[in-house]
Amino acid sequence: MTGISNAGEHSTRANKSQNKEALAMESLKSLDEFESRAIKQISKKAWSFNYAAAGDLISKSLDREVYRSILLRPRVLVNVKECDMSTTIIGQRVGLPIFVSPMAMARLAHPTGEAGISAACGVFGAMHIISNNASMTPEEIVAGAAPEQIFGFQLYVQTDRTESEAVLMRINKLSAIKCIVLTVDEPVQGKHELGPRGFERYDDAQTEVPTQPEEPSQPGTDVKVAIPSVSGPASDAEWDITLQWLAKHTSLPIIVKGIQTYEDAEVAATYAHVKGIILSNHGGRVLDTAPPAIHTLLEIRKYCPDVLEKLDIMVDGGIRRGTDVVKALCLGARAVGIGRPAFWGLGAGGIAGVERMLQR
Ligand SMILES: Cc1cc2nc3c(=O)[nH]c(=O)nc-3n(C[C@H](O)[C@H](O)[C@H](O)COP(=O)(O)O)c2cc1C
Repeated sequence: MTGISNAGEHSTRANKSQNKEALAMESLKSLDEFESRAIKQISKKAWSFNYAAAGDLISKSLDREVYRSILLRPRVLVNVKECDMSTTIIGQRVGLPIFVSPMAMARLAHPTGEAGISAACGVFGAMHIISNNASMTPEEIVAGAAPEQIFGFQLYVQTDRTESEAVLMRINKLSAIKCIVLTVDEPVQGKHELGPRGFERYDDAQTEVPTQPEEPSQPGTDVKVAIPSVSGPASDAEWDITLQWLAKHTSLPIIVKGIQTYEDAEVAATYAHVKGIILSNHGGRVLDTAPPAIHTLLEIRKYCPDVLEKLDIMVDGGIRRGTDVVKALCLGARAVGIGRPAFWGLGAGGIAGVERMLQR
Protein backbone atom coordinates (compact mmCIF):
# COMPACT_ATOMS: atom_id res chain seq x y z
CA MET A 1 0.00 0.00 0.00
CA THR A 2 2.76 2.39 0.97
CA GLY A 3 4.43 1.71 -2.37
CA ILE A 4 1.19 2.45 -4.22
CA SER A 5 0.54 5.69 -2.39
CA ASN A 6 4.18 6.79 -2.95
CA ALA A 7 3.82 6.06 -6.63
CA GLY A 8 0.57 8.07 -6.64
CA GLU A 9 2.22 11.03 -4.91
CA HIS A 10 5.13 10.79 -7.32
CA SER A 11 2.87 10.87 -10.38
CA THR A 12 0.83 13.78 -8.93
CA ARG A 13 4.08 15.70 -8.42
CA ALA A 14 5.17 14.82 -11.97
CA ASN A 15 1.79 15.95 -13.35
CA LYS A 16 2.00 19.21 -11.39
CA SER A 17 5.45 19.94 -12.72
CA GLN A 18 4.33 19.08 -16.29
CA ASN A 19 1.32 21.41 -15.88
CA LYS A 20 3.66 24.14 -14.62
CA GLU A 21 5.87 23.69 -17.68
CA ALA A 22 2.83 23.75 -19.98
CA LEU A 23 1.60 26.98 -18.32
CA ALA A 24 5.02 28.59 -18.66
CA MET A 25 5.02 27.66 -22.35
CA GLU A 26 1.65 29.32 -22.93
CA SER A 27 3.26 32.75 -22.67
CA LEU A 28 5.40 32.00 -25.73
CA LYS A 29 3.70 33.29 -28.85
CA SER A 30 6.14 33.03 -31.74
CA LEU A 31 8.83 30.54 -32.68
CA ASP A 32 11.50 33.18 -32.15
CA GLU A 33 10.40 33.48 -28.53
CA PHE A 34 11.24 29.80 -28.03
CA GLU A 35 14.78 30.55 -29.14
CA SER A 36 15.04 33.46 -26.69
CA ARG A 37 13.69 31.30 -23.86
CA ALA A 38 15.88 28.32 -24.72
CA ILE A 39 19.12 30.28 -24.75
CA LYS A 40 18.57 31.23 -21.11
CA GLN A 41 18.48 27.54 -20.21
CA ILE A 42 20.83 25.64 -22.48
CA SER A 43 24.62 25.54 -22.66
CA LYS A 44 26.63 27.56 -25.16
CA LYS A 45 27.64 24.28 -26.74
CA ALA A 46 23.98 23.36 -27.32
CA TRP A 47 23.14 26.83 -28.58
CA SER A 48 26.02 27.02 -31.05
CA PHE A 49 25.32 23.49 -32.31
CA ASN A 50 21.76 24.43 -33.21
CA TYR A 51 22.31 28.04 -34.30
CA ALA A 52 25.28 27.37 -36.55
CA ALA A 53 25.26 27.37 -40.34
CA ALA A 54 27.90 27.35 -43.04
CA GLY A 55 30.02 30.29 -44.16
CA ASP A 56 28.34 33.69 -43.94
CA LEU A 57 24.91 32.23 -43.07
CA ILE A 58 23.50 33.51 -46.37
CA SER A 59 21.39 30.42 -47.08
CA LYS A 60 20.21 30.27 -43.48
CA SER A 61 19.02 33.91 -43.60
CA LEU A 62 17.54 33.59 -47.07
CA ASP A 63 15.52 30.55 -45.98
CA ARG A 64 13.53 32.92 -43.76
CA GLU A 65 13.63 36.02 -45.96
CA VAL A 66 12.12 34.20 -48.91
CA TYR A 67 8.84 33.57 -47.06
CA ARG A 68 8.61 37.24 -46.06
CA SER A 69 8.85 38.27 -49.71
CA ILE A 70 5.94 36.07 -50.82
CA LEU A 71 2.57 37.73 -50.34
CA LEU A 72 -0.73 35.96 -49.87
CA ARG A 73 -3.78 36.39 -52.13
CA PRO A 74 -6.56 35.71 -49.64
CA ARG A 75 -9.90 34.60 -51.08
CA VAL A 76 -12.89 35.64 -48.96
CA LEU A 77 -16.34 34.28 -48.12
CA VAL A 78 -15.07 30.76 -47.77
CA ASN A 79 -16.38 28.64 -44.90
CA VAL A 80 -13.46 28.12 -42.51
CA LYS A 81 -15.45 27.15 -39.42
CA GLU A 82 -14.17 23.58 -39.44
CA CYS A 83 -10.64 23.08 -40.71
CA ASP A 84 -9.17 19.63 -41.20
CA MET A 85 -5.39 19.88 -41.06
CA SER A 86 -4.74 16.20 -41.67
CA THR A 87 -3.09 15.04 -44.87
CA THR A 88 -1.05 12.15 -46.17
CA ILE A 89 2.69 11.86 -46.63
CA ILE A 90 3.68 9.02 -48.98
CA GLY A 91 0.25 7.54 -48.40
CA GLN A 92 0.42 7.64 -44.59
CA ARG A 93 -2.20 9.66 -42.73
CA VAL A 94 -0.76 12.43 -40.52
CA GLY A 95 -2.54 14.98 -38.34
CA LEU A 96 -0.59 17.99 -39.63
CA PRO A 97 1.12 19.02 -42.87
CA ILE A 98 4.09 19.84 -40.61
CA PHE A 99 6.76 17.35 -39.64
CA VAL A 100 9.88 17.58 -37.51
CA SER A 101 12.97 17.37 -39.71
CA PRO A 102 15.81 15.11 -38.64
CA MET A 103 18.14 16.75 -36.16
CA ALA A 104 21.14 15.30 -34.43
CA MET A 105 21.78 15.33 -30.70
CA ALA A 106 18.48 16.56 -29.24
CA ARG A 107 19.57 15.62 -25.72
CA LEU A 108 21.90 18.61 -25.85
CA ALA A 109 18.74 20.70 -25.50
CA HIS A 110 16.86 18.63 -22.90
CA PRO A 111 17.24 15.24 -21.21
CA THR A 112 14.06 13.92 -22.88
CA GLY A 113 15.85 14.36 -26.22
CA GLU A 114 14.40 12.85 -29.38
CA ALA A 115 11.85 10.87 -27.33
CA GLY A 116 10.57 14.23 -26.06
CA ILE A 117 10.18 15.52 -29.63
CA SER A 118 8.31 12.33 -30.53
CA ALA A 119 5.99 12.62 -27.53
CA ALA A 120 5.04 16.14 -28.65
CA CYS A 121 4.58 15.02 -32.27
CA GLY A 122 2.30 12.24 -31.02
CA VAL A 123 -0.12 14.81 -29.59
CA PHE A 124 -0.76 16.19 -33.09
CA GLY A 125 -0.20 13.04 -35.14
CA ALA A 126 2.76 14.80 -36.76
CA MET A 127 5.55 12.80 -38.38
CA HIS A 128 8.99 12.88 -36.74
CA ILE A 129 12.00 12.03 -38.88
CA ILE A 130 14.61 10.47 -36.61
CA SER A 131 18.18 11.56 -37.35
CA ASN A 132 20.89 8.99 -38.10
CA ASN A 133 22.89 11.03 -35.57
CA ALA A 134 20.21 11.11 -32.86
CA SER A 135 21.35 11.01 -29.24
CA MET A 136 18.93 8.16 -28.49
CA THR A 137 18.49 4.87 -30.32
CA PRO A 138 15.58 4.55 -32.78
CA GLU A 139 14.15 1.81 -30.55
CA GLU A 140 14.10 4.21 -27.57
CA ILE A 141 12.57 6.99 -29.63
CA VAL A 142 9.63 5.00 -31.00
CA ALA A 143 9.04 3.06 -27.73
CA GLY A 144 6.47 5.50 -26.33
CA ALA A 145 4.80 6.35 -29.63
CA ALA A 146 1.04 6.83 -29.86
CA PRO A 147 -0.71 3.94 -31.71
CA GLU A 148 -1.15 5.71 -35.07
CA GLN A 149 2.00 7.79 -34.84
CA ILE A 150 4.43 7.54 -37.75
CA PHE A 151 8.15 8.12 -38.12
CA GLY A 152 10.76 8.34 -40.83
CA PHE A 153 14.38 7.33 -40.31
CA GLN A 154 17.02 9.57 -41.86
CA LEU A 155 20.06 7.80 -43.22
CA TYR A 156 23.54 9.09 -43.91
CA VAL A 157 25.26 6.50 -46.11
CA GLN A 158 28.50 5.49 -44.38
CA THR A 159 31.81 4.94 -46.18
CA ASP A 160 31.70 1.32 -45.02
CA ARG A 161 28.25 0.41 -46.38
CA THR A 162 27.94 -2.54 -43.97
CA GLU A 163 27.56 0.00 -41.14
CA SER A 164 24.47 1.45 -42.84
CA GLU A 165 23.20 -2.03 -43.67
CA ALA A 166 23.29 -2.93 -39.96
CA VAL A 167 21.28 0.21 -39.17
CA LEU A 168 18.73 -0.60 -41.87
CA MET A 169 18.28 -4.10 -40.42
CA ARG A 170 17.34 -2.49 -37.10
CA ILE A 171 14.99 0.01 -38.73
CA ASN A 172 13.23 -2.65 -40.81
CA LYS A 173 12.07 -4.26 -37.53
CA LEU A 174 10.38 -1.08 -36.20
CA SER A 175 6.84 -0.95 -37.55
CA ALA A 176 6.28 2.70 -36.56
CA ILE A 177 8.98 3.75 -39.05
CA LYS A 178 7.31 4.11 -42.44
CA CYS A 179 10.10 5.46 -44.66
CA ILE A 180 13.82 5.94 -45.08
CA VAL A 181 14.83 9.54 -45.57
CA LEU A 182 18.10 9.49 -47.48
CA THR A 183 20.03 12.72 -46.88
CA VAL A 184 22.08 13.57 -49.96
CA ASP A 185 23.14 17.16 -49.41
CA GLU A 186 26.12 16.59 -47.11
CA PRO A 187 28.80 14.62 -49.01
CA VAL A 188 31.29 16.57 -46.91
CA GLN A 189 30.65 18.41 -43.67
CA GLY A 190 29.73 22.08 -43.82
CA LYS A 191 32.23 24.59 -42.52
CA HIS A 192 30.87 26.38 -39.45
CA GLU A 193 32.74 29.28 -37.93
CA LEU A 194 31.35 29.05 -34.42
CA GLY A 195 33.41 28.26 -31.34
CA PRO A 196 35.02 30.75 -28.98
CA ARG A 197 35.85 33.11 -31.87
CA GLY A 198 32.41 32.60 -33.29
CA PHE A 199 30.71 33.65 -30.09
CA GLU A 200 32.66 36.90 -30.26
CA ARG A 201 31.60 37.32 -33.84
CA TYR A 202 27.94 36.81 -33.08
CA ASP A 203 28.20 39.01 -29.98
CA ASP A 204 29.55 41.74 -32.23
CA ALA A 205 26.57 41.27 -34.51
CA GLN A 206 24.34 41.69 -31.42
CA THR A 207 22.95 38.21 -31.75
CA GLU A 208 21.48 36.92 -28.52
CA VAL A 209 23.80 34.32 -26.99
CA PRO A 210 23.22 32.07 -23.98
CA THR A 211 23.75 33.34 -20.49
CA GLN A 212 24.53 29.84 -19.22
CA PRO A 213 28.14 28.93 -18.36
CA GLU A 214 30.04 27.06 -21.08
CA GLU A 215 29.64 23.62 -19.48
CA PRO A 216 26.69 23.59 -17.07
CA SER A 217 26.00 20.40 -15.16
CA GLN A 218 22.82 19.94 -17.22
CA PRO A 219 21.37 19.42 -19.69
CA GLY A 220 23.36 17.26 -21.97
CA THR A 221 26.98 17.37 -20.88
CA ASP A 222 27.48 13.67 -21.69
CA VAL A 223 25.43 13.60 -24.91
CA LYS A 224 26.68 11.31 -27.66
CA VAL A 225 25.39 10.03 -30.99
CA ALA A 226 23.58 6.75 -30.20
CA ILE A 227 24.70 5.01 -33.41
CA PRO A 228 28.19 6.38 -33.89
CA SER A 229 29.77 6.22 -37.32
CA VAL A 230 33.07 4.35 -37.47
CA SER A 231 34.03 4.78 -41.12
CA GLY A 232 32.51 8.29 -41.53
CA PRO A 233 29.84 9.56 -43.93
CA ALA A 234 30.38 8.53 -47.56
CA SER A 235 31.55 11.17 -49.99
CA ASP A 236 31.54 8.74 -52.94
CA ALA A 237 27.77 8.07 -53.13
CA GLU A 238 26.15 8.38 -56.58
CA TRP A 239 22.52 8.11 -57.71
CA ASP A 240 22.23 4.68 -59.36
CA ILE A 241 24.52 2.64 -57.20
CA THR A 242 23.18 4.14 -53.95
CA LEU A 243 19.49 3.79 -54.78
CA GLN A 244 19.97 0.21 -56.00
CA TRP A 245 21.96 -0.69 -52.90
CA LEU A 246 19.29 0.86 -50.65
CA ALA A 247 16.50 -1.14 -52.35
CA LYS A 248 18.40 -4.33 -51.51
CA HIS A 249 18.45 -3.53 -47.81
CA THR A 250 14.98 -2.15 -47.17
CA SER A 251 11.55 -2.42 -48.71
CA LEU A 252 10.48 0.82 -47.06
CA PRO A 253 9.68 3.71 -49.40
CA ILE A 254 12.47 6.25 -49.86
CA ILE A 255 12.29 10.02 -49.44
CA VAL A 256 15.38 11.82 -50.76
CA LYS A 257 16.28 14.83 -48.60
CA GLY A 258 18.44 17.70 -49.77
CA ILE A 259 17.28 18.18 -53.38
CA GLN A 260 18.29 21.68 -54.50
CA THR A 261 17.68 21.78 -58.26
CA TYR A 262 14.84 20.77 -60.58
CA GLU A 263 17.28 18.52 -62.49
CA ASP A 264 17.85 16.37 -59.40
CA ALA A 265 14.11 16.32 -58.65
CA GLU A 266 13.62 14.84 -62.12
CA VAL A 267 16.32 12.23 -61.51
CA ALA A 268 14.79 11.24 -58.14
CA ALA A 269 11.42 10.69 -59.84
CA THR A 270 12.91 8.04 -62.12
CA TYR A 271 13.41 5.57 -59.21
CA ALA A 272 10.33 3.49 -58.49
CA HIS A 273 10.94 3.18 -54.75
CA VAL A 274 11.50 6.92 -54.30
CA LYS A 275 8.09 8.21 -53.23
CA GLY A 276 9.03 11.66 -52.05
CA ILE A 277 11.69 14.36 -51.93
CA ILE A 278 12.47 17.03 -49.39
CA LEU A 279 13.71 20.24 -50.97
CA SER A 280 16.23 21.44 -48.43
CA ASN A 281 19.58 23.14 -48.02
CA HIS A 282 20.06 21.48 -44.61
CA GLY A 283 19.13 24.70 -42.81
CA GLY A 284 22.05 26.43 -44.55
CA ARG A 285 24.49 24.22 -42.66
CA VAL A 286 26.41 22.64 -45.53
CA LEU A 287 26.87 24.76 -48.65
CA ASP A 288 26.41 28.46 -48.11
CA THR A 289 24.53 30.25 -50.92
CA ALA A 290 22.61 27.05 -51.79
CA PRO A 291 19.04 28.08 -52.66
CA PRO A 292 16.08 28.15 -50.29
CA ALA A 293 13.67 25.25 -50.84
CA ILE A 294 10.99 27.58 -52.19
CA HIS A 295 13.25 28.58 -55.10
CA THR A 296 13.70 24.91 -55.98
CA LEU A 297 9.94 24.36 -55.72
CA LEU A 298 9.37 27.26 -58.14
CA GLU A 299 11.94 25.77 -60.53
CA ILE A 300 10.12 22.44 -60.44
CA ARG A 301 6.78 24.16 -61.14
CA LYS A 302 8.34 25.89 -64.14
CA TYR A 303 10.57 23.24 -65.71
CA CYS A 304 9.17 19.85 -64.64
CA PRO A 305 5.69 20.25 -63.10
CA ASP A 306 5.00 16.56 -63.77
CA VAL A 307 7.31 15.74 -60.83
CA LEU A 308 4.67 17.28 -58.54
CA GLU A 309 2.30 14.53 -59.71
CA LYS A 310 4.86 11.73 -59.40
CA LEU A 311 6.33 12.46 -55.96
CA ASP A 312 5.31 13.96 -52.65
CA ILE A 313 7.37 17.12 -52.56
CA MET A 314 8.16 18.56 -49.16
CA VAL A 315 10.23 21.57 -48.14
CA ASP A 316 12.15 22.66 -45.06
CA GLY A 317 14.31 25.58 -43.97
CA GLY A 318 13.22 28.85 -42.39
CA ILE A 319 9.60 27.91 -41.66
CA ARG A 320 8.68 29.98 -38.62
CA ARG A 321 5.07 31.10 -39.14
CA GLY A 322 1.77 29.48 -40.02
CA THR A 323 1.68 31.74 -43.06
CA ASP A 324 5.01 30.24 -44.20
CA VAL A 325 3.36 26.81 -44.07
CA VAL A 326 0.37 28.05 -46.07
CA LYS A 327 2.63 29.62 -48.72
CA ALA A 328 4.63 26.42 -49.18
CA LEU A 329 1.48 24.31 -49.44
CA CYS A 330 -0.13 26.75 -51.91
CA LEU A 331 2.97 26.48 -54.10
CA GLY A 332 2.65 22.70 -54.20
CA ALA A 333 4.43 21.28 -51.17
CA ARG A 334 2.65 18.36 -49.54
CA ALA A 335 4.11 19.14 -46.11
CA VAL A 336 6.80 21.25 -44.49
CA GLY A 337 9.60 20.37 -42.08
CA ILE A 338 10.64 22.29 -39.00
CA GLY A 339 14.22 21.98 -37.76
CA ARG A 340 15.77 24.38 -35.26
CA PRO A 341 12.47 25.43 -33.59
CA ALA A 342 12.01 21.84 -32.33
CA PHE A 343 15.39 22.06 -30.61
CA TRP A 344 14.55 25.50 -29.16
CA GLY A 345 11.14 24.20 -28.02
CA LEU A 346 12.81 21.30 -26.27
CA GLY A 347 15.36 23.62 -24.66
CA ALA A 348 12.64 26.05 -23.59
CA GLY A 349 10.29 23.57 -21.97
CA GLY A 350 10.93 19.91 -22.79
CA ILE A 351 7.97 18.04 -24.26
CA ALA A 352 5.58 20.89 -23.40
CA GLY A 353 7.90 23.28 -25.25
CA VAL A 354 7.83 21.27 -28.48
CA GLU A 355 4.06 20.82 -28.15
CA ARG A 356 3.54 24.55 -27.79
CA MET A 357 5.95 25.22 -30.66
CA LEU A 358 3.90 22.98 -32.96
CA GLN A 359 0.73 24.80 -31.87
CA ARG A 360 2.15 28.23 -32.68
C1 LIG B 1 21.16 21.13 -34.99
C2 LIG B 1 20.79 20.56 -36.33
C3 LIG B 1 21.07 19.24 -36.59
C4 LIG B 1 20.71 18.70 -37.82
N1 LIG B 1 20.96 17.37 -38.05
C5 LIG B 1 20.56 16.82 -39.22
C6 LIG B 1 20.73 15.43 -39.42
O1 LIG B 1 21.23 14.71 -38.58
N2 LIG B 1 20.31 14.92 -40.62
C7 LIG B 1 19.72 15.70 -41.59
O2 LIG B 1 19.34 15.19 -42.64
N3 LIG B 1 19.54 17.03 -41.38
C8 LIG B 1 19.92 17.59 -40.23
N4 LIG B 1 19.71 18.92 -40.03
C9 LIG B 1 18.96 19.71 -41.04
C10 LIG B 1 17.46 19.68 -40.72
O3 LIG B 1 16.93 18.40 -40.98
C11 LIG B 1 16.66 20.67 -41.58
O4 LIG B 1 16.93 20.44 -42.94
C12 LIG B 1 16.92 22.14 -41.25
O5 LIG B 1 17.19 22.33 -39.88
C13 LIG B 1 15.69 22.97 -41.64
O6 LIG B 1 15.91 24.31 -41.42
P1 LIG B 1 15.37 25.12 -40.13
O7 LIG B 1 16.28 24.75 -39.01
O8 LIG B 1 15.51 26.53 -40.56
O9 LIG B 1 13.93 24.72 -39.87
C14 LIG B 1 20.07 19.49 -38.81
C15 LIG B 1 19.79 20.83 -38.51
C16 LIG B 1 20.13 21.36 -37.29
C17 LIG B 1 19.79 22.80 -37.01
